[in-house]
Amino acid sequence: PQVVYVDPSGFRRSVDADAGDTVMTAAVRNGVPGIVGECGGHISCATCHVWLRPEYVDLSGEIGDMEEDLLDLGVAERRQTSRLGCQVVITDELDGLTVDVPPPA
Ligand code: FES
Repeated sequence: PQVVYVDPSGFRRSVDADAGDTVMTAAVRNGVPGIVGECGGHISCATCHVWLRPEYVDLSGEIGDMEEDLLDLGVAERRQTSRLGCQVVITDELDGLTVDVPPPA
């Protein structure tokens, strides 16, 4: 499935992900700027924060308790559509998933 990362200037990077990747792992493997994944997906760094485009929110699964806490405490600008990229698993259904990458803190 394709995942599209939109940087703060509006530039779109389209990446070929595998089902089972996360928004974070696909970004890191493809060198997408602004998504670091420092903790390796263990819900402790928030360097994978993205804003989902609204049409993908329902398809992307529930926010877990630990993710909820880290979004509250660890990100500069939490929005309704905020997710930790490491907690959003790419599926074939999510083909075309488009996320905005927050500007550097
Ligand atoms: Fe650290 Fe997602 S990679 S919280």
